[in-house]
Amino acid sequence: MSRIVYVNGDFVPEEAAKVSIFDRGFLFADGVYEVTPILHGKLIENAGHMARLERSMRELQMPPPCPVEEIAALMKELVARNDVYEGMVYVQVTRGAADRDFAFPEDATPTLVMFTQERKIEDTDSSRLGIRVISTPDWRWARRDIKTVQLLAPSLMKMRAKAAGAHDAWMVQDGFVTEGTSNNAYIVTKDGTIVTRHLSTEILHGITRASVLRLAAEAQMKVEERPFTIAEAQEAAEAFMTAASAFVTPVVEIDGVTLGDGKPGPVARRLREIYIATALEHAD
Ligand SMILES: Cc1ncc(COP(=O)(O)O)c(C=O)c1O
Repeated sequence: MSRIVYVNGDFVPEEAAKVSIFDRGFLFADGVYEVTPILHGKLIENAGHMARLERSMRELQMPPPCPVEEIAALMKELVARNDVYEGMVYVQVTRGAADRDFAFPEDATPTLVMFTQERKIEDTDSSRLGIRVISTPDWRWARRDIKTVQLLAPSLMKMRAKAAGAHDAWMVQDGFVTEGTSNNAYIVTKDGTIVTRHLSTEILHGITRASVLRLAAEAQMKVEERPFTIAEAQEAAEAFMTAASAFVTPVVEIDGVTLGDGKPGPVARRLREIYIATALEHAD
């Protein structure tokens, strides 16, 4: 059965969805997006995703198609129409269609599209077994704090990881890890301190990251927001990553070096549990 998707005011079967070839999202990657997880049929941390969507549009001087509260209501309707119990809802806003020109058009109507993806995100092989990562140079642009659809660089890095038999790549700039291709990166030092890169324009300000760091502090875990190297990560007691649809996922190998006993570590396992339980309590 085909999905129902949302395009510019209409809920339609995916085969009927149409966007102009002049859309600036297609021609210039002039678009922003969010991915909100769905657990038990409910949206997880959507207020945070909507706040970041609003900020991404503002940073790019992109007129919003409608208030984000309306977008949130449409997302819920889409999840209900597709009867999704577990998976995610993807939302994309672009500057809209206009004759091709590098300068922003003055009167384009923003494009708003949404679709759902059904898939297991709570009980996954990655969460049970952990993932293997490789390191790659970070070739992305300088405003990684804006969640744009220009994802070719991380896509190439993910392919590099796949070719090496790994699940993902941790990107490195000036000798320090920035983040994963689609997630924030963490290590846990031998004295139990959780270390993750500080917020700046060099990384995406993960919605999951913010909650996980708050929950870790509430659980009396020590947190340091600072850069770390691949060598420090390989020496760490454990490592993990966070992302909306991965929650907290353990990392068990970095550039072929096994961390600890090669099994998901206790800090990552505990944070995943606390995160999912808390997120479900506040899901809507
Ligand atoms: C580059 C990058 N970093 C971090 C994240 C994690 O952010 P969030 O927890 O909001 O999903 C993502 C998610 O897509 C990402 O693409």
